[in-house]
Amino acid sequence: MKKLYLVKPLPIGVINPLIYGHFSEHIGGVFYDGIWVGEDSSVPNIHGFRKSLVEAFKAVRPSVLRWPGGCFAETYDWRDGIGPRGNRPTRINWWYQNDGRMEPNKIGTHEFVEFCRLVGAEPYIAANITSTTPLDIRDWIDYCNSPKGSTEYAKLREANGSPEPLNVKYWGVGNECWGGGGNMEPEIYAHEYRKYAMIMRNSAPGLELFACGPNANGWHWTERFLRVFDTSSRIMNGYSVHYYCGASGGCLDFTNEQFYHLLSKASFMNHIVNQTWNLVCGFNCQNQCPLVVDEWGCWHPGGSGPTKGYNLFEQQSTMRDALVTALTLNIFNNNCEKVKMANAAQLVNNLHCLFLANKENFIVTPTYHVYDMYKEHQGATAIKTAFEQETITYKNPDNQREEKLAKLSVSASVKDDALLLTVANLSLTDAEDLELESVGMTLGNDADITILRNDDVHAHNTFDAPDAVTPIQKTTKADVIQVPPASVVTARIKLQ
Ligand code: AHR
Repeated sequence: MKKLYLVKPLPIGVINPLIYGHFSEHIGGVFYDGIWVGEDSSVPNIHGFRKSLVEAFKAVRPSVLRWPGGCFAETYDWRDGIGPRGNRPTRINWWYQNDGRMEPNKIGTHEFVEFCRLVGAEPYIAANITSTTPLDIRDWIDYCNSPKGSTEYAKLREANGSPEPLNVKYWGVGNECWGGGGNMEPEIYAHEYRKYAMIMRNSAPGLELFACGPNANGWHWTERFLRVFDTSSRIMNGYSVHYYCGASGGCLDFTNEQFYHLLSKASFMNHIVNQTWNLVCGFNCQNQCPLVVDEWGCWHPGGSGPTKGYNLFEQQSTMRDALVTALTLNIFNNNCEKVKMANAAQLVNNLHCLFLANKENFIVTPTYHVYDMYKEHQGATAIKTAFEQETITYKNPDNQREEKLAKLSVSASVKDDALLLTVANLSLTDAEDLELESVGMTLGNDADITILRNDDVHAHNTFDAPDAVTPIQKTTKADVIQVPPASVVTARIKLQ
């Protein structure tokens, strides 16, 4: 039995609902046959959007959805995606050399925003600063946000079916500008950022602009960017960070050591968040640079998804991926005073996805269930926890060295007079009984428990077995919470 203290006084902060955000790029099967099936499809749809996906996605209360990329964003011309769908041009997709597919532009700004409204998410657009000009981006903002009838672009938007503004508040100024987004030096990007952001900010009221930050632990990018970025200009509302963990065995075939190694790589997110934040604070940018982790997830070797590699980056999602999800969301909750937004990459038929879909087939993944189990954290006050952490010792499969991994990942929050405790037990063998001890609050007697686990951590849902990994629910006494090996457990307890 292990004592777990839940400490209400001096909370960490409010968990921004935007931390429970998602990402959708024009790549492989994310939109075409994923989100979008078309109005004439025999697959049940709402204005062309896959109905089952809309309903399931809405149920986990997605706060924000990023689009159109990713790398795709950096050759995207927004004008290709407006007007009658039949008249839109086919263009070379950024990913063409990877999968030979062109971009038909059936999904554009109107469709994207409509999908967001259907599921209750705020739209977040990543603007192309690599191959379109500041004026192009100003025009896109004008098209999206200018009042009805006020400009030529507002009139064009109305002619295309949306008289009222689309009200897109969140805008990324480029994507991965250290790589696919222009391959820039950080100093060059800092100047580009200021140029674009100054014009973007003056194009509509109330926009929030996010700068491109590092890949993972690219501290030099942050340091060199912030040395040039002028903090007094106050034209930044968030600083993006991308981190993928992966290549630890296959998505479906992995040894115990590879299982632990992937979770260890996922735990590195805590280091990335804290070290990036330390640098941001060092440059006195903490007000302008809350962290926006707008791409994160597992990136496994390709080919494990239903289309066996036809859809670029499509991968399955096992109980191991669910543990990565729980661990990562716990890290964000526990650092919610630093992390403003986070977007799992990507929504469907891709990396770390919530859904897999193919023609009439549709399933939710174990990762989806974690989002469902964690959704009450949104907007709640994150509180501190204290417990004796144990470590798991395993052999790093890459170099055979012994490494250690924290066994338990925990976060807790309070909202509407109820506590939500979320735990991931990373041990393949050892269960844990957590004896709850509350400080500064009194817990009720009963706990609503949800458990996500499977005897086999390779377990995953398929079109033939859609519920192989699915949560079970029960009510227990609130004093001791039982956490099986390799499981995600949530406990909701009313406060007295
Ligand atoms: O999510 C796939 C790709 O990963 C994105 O397009 C890019 O931003 C990142 O490198």
